Amino acid sequence: MDEVDASVAHSARIWNYWLGGKDWFPVDRRVGDQIAEMFPDIVRLARADRAFLGRAVRYLAGEAGIRQFLDIGTGLPTANNTHQVAQGVAPESRIVYVDNDPLVLVHARSLLTGTAEGAIDYIEADLSDPDRIVREASKTLDFTQPVAVMLLGVLHHIPDDDMARAIVDRLVDALAPGGYLTIAHSTNQVTGAAMDEAVRHWNQFGKPSMTLRTTEAITGFFDRLELLEPGVVSTTRWRPDPADAEAGPIRETDEFCGVGRKPA
Ligand SMILES: C[S@@+](CC[C@H](N)C(=O)[O-])C[C@H]1O[C@@H](n2cnc3c(N)ncnc32)[C@H](O)[C@@H]1O
Repeated sequence: MDEVDASVAHSARIWNYWLGGKDWFPVDRRVGDQIAEMFPDIVRLARADRAFLGRAVRYLAGEAGIRQFLDIGTGLPTANNTHQVAQGVAPESRIVYVDNDPLVLVHARSLLTGTAEGAIDYIEADLSDPDRIVREASKTLDFTQPVAVMLLGVLHHIPDDDMARAIVDRLVDALAPGGYLTIAHSTNQVTGAAMDEAVRHWNQFGKPSMTLRTTEAITGFFDRLELLEPGVVSTTRWRPDPADAEAGPIRETDEFCGVGRKPA
């Protein structure tokens, strides 16, 4: 296992800081505050991403009847992690978490307490090795049956477009018909230069680097899938809860998302 590096801001920890958690180091708060100064929307973006995770997993475990989840780029445990949402709908749900940050591994135990009927596993692995992820996840998940792959806030940490595409293709190959792919990915479609500047700062002081992609590029990841309505949109616009709509006009945020289904 790699050492936890407390001298450089890391994605999982800064995300935890913006989400109001406690699992970060002073360097994460410093860089997190600098980014929030340049890009005040970041805390809303992080919270909107988690709210999207909740709605997407509720849809997948509920209406779509999915019982197996592969959540890559899990992040540090927070409220309403994938297993809590999925097993809240269907207690027999099986979940495999994957992250490459050693601090997430340290905290993984709190991800592993689910229902007696279901199963949860954690793999320390890198998204750039999807073969290993699928091989290890197969110990807990049955890939002959539908699995929902969750790539929330992680694909933008793969800078090379061809490599990102190859990773998604390999994961889609592993899915049985009726399996799902869910992506949330940072963009600059809404806030433009402010987001560009925040990402430049992140790439100078944080790890791993971030690459923004357009709505079209994110939509391209779903080429081999049936993209569910409403397509690739700001997380706040993906099937908002009625209460969100009642709270006033929906504000977009620069994290775009989509859910696709592998056809028969
Ligand atoms: C912004 S957080 C998102 C956490 C969670 N998925 C969410 O949406 O709230 C990104 C996570 O991806 C992990 N990560 C970044 N690059 C990765 C890679 N190449 N392989 C596996 N995990 C990675 C980070 O350690 C971090 O926990």
